[in-house]
Amino acid sequence: MTLARYVDFNVRGDADGWLVALEGNRNVPFSMQRAYYIFGTQNGVRRGKHAHRRLTQMMVCLTGQCKILLDDGKTREDLTLARNDQGLMLDAMIWHEMYDFSPDCVLLVLADNYYDEADYIRNYAAFKTACA
Ligand code: TYD
Repeated sequence: MTLARYVDFNVRGDADGWLVALEGNRNVPFSMQRAYYIFGTQNGVRRGKHAHRRLTQMMVCLTGQCKILLDDGKTREDLTLARNDQGLMLDAMIWHEMYDFSPDCVLLVLADNYYDEADYIRNYAAFKTACA
């Protein structure tokens, strides 16, 4: 794996149940400004399909699973997100598309800034040009 890295979380709890705590600048290696989650993705849908100019994010699959395509303009990589005890770090300028969602998939995303449409590159050709 080269385009993104996993961060392992400490899982607390016991036979009664489990808990993972996410803390900015600790196990989440940036200052969190925003969290959002995507769910209820219909069969066959691809989500994401963009890159961010500056935003850093971490993705955690809370339930179910999906796949993610990563592309830095030179190489592509497909990973599976299926664990709630690790996060996938997603740096800026990585084109990403999530696909093959299980019906129960809930994907939590932590971000280091507020939503800003101007930070998005939603056109793949424009992304390739920006990478060159
Ligand atoms: P979009 O980027 O199209 O997500 P996906 O490809 O996963 O469906 O975002 C869907 C809508 O939600 C779009 O109108 C932008 C809006 N949005 C926010 O208002 N705040 C956010 O933090 C995010 C991620 C999206």
